[in-house]
Amino acid sequence: MTDHILVERQGAIQIIRMNRPDKKNALTRAMYAKMSKTLAEGEADPAIRVHVFLGVSGAFSSGNDLADFMVVATGGEGGTEVWDFLMALARTEKPMVSGVDGIAVGIGTTLNLHCDLTFATPRTMFRTPFVDLGLVPEAGSSLLAPQILGRQGAFALLGLGEGFSAERAKAAGLIYAVVEENELEASVLAAAGQIAAKPPQALKIARDLMRGSREELVARIGQESEYFRERLKSDEARAALMAFMTRKKTG
Ligand code: COA
Repeated sequence: MTDHILVERQGAIQIIRMNRPDKKNALTRAMYAKMSKTLAEGEADPAIRVHVFLGVSGAFSSGNDLADFMVVATGGEGGTEVWDFLMALARTEKPMVSGVDGIAVGIGTTLNLHCDLTFATPRTMFRTPFVDLGLVPEAGSSLLAPQILGRQGAFALLGLGEGFSAERAKAAGLIYAVVEENELEASVLAAAGQIAAKPPQALKIARDLMRGSREELVARIGQESEYFRERLKSDEARAALMAFMTRKKTG
């Protein structure tokens, strides 16, 4: 198991912290596996009432580890960890709150579409360059983003790969609040504490009603994943991944 995911409990709050700062929290298969396992444990434990996702200073997540994508793009085995995690996210029955500071790319953006409340700092930039990488949207984002942002906002995010600043994300309904960096975790934990203090059964029914059918979301994730796996082996994706792997850093 990886120590790139730190798990902590504060009363009824379970905190999943992505902690791979040297790679801006790029997510490896081991990290996805640990997050799925932790979500399942929190779901099964009646003492836990809310899940929290956090990253490190300046990086919520830079998305899937592109080296892992490259393995698949060059004919290797990709495993099921990513998809297992996405299904776990879609099926989670307890509320989820996220706190995002800085980089939020790919799954670093789409994970938040599953959260009930997302706080972000002013320097946060949400971005999903799936198409630029020769890929397609994942995590049910092709379904959730149009619901949240409208068709045109979703196209800007998922089709054009435009960056959404925290301010734009708030105006578009993608996140709940913008707070200063030094207030992020306190704000997230205060909201999680508020959620944990609610009558859990009533909150669960209210949340289920607001979310609608889980099966539609799960089916969409499956559909996206078929295209995604196919696209990873395309010339477009291989070229884009190769460009990242072999890029020369400036400065
Ligand atoms: N997968 C693997 N490694 C990644 C990564 C990713 N998704 N994102 C960043 N890294 C690595 C970089 O290669 C670098 O490693 P190195 O120091 O060993 O060279 C390190 O993390 C720091 O990244 P760097 O690019 O120097 O930081 P930055 O602040 O200049 O830029 C990003 C950050 C996230 C904008 C840039 O790294 C990036 O575009 N990453 C790819 C994001 C992406 O396309 N994700 C997949 C979405 S589906």
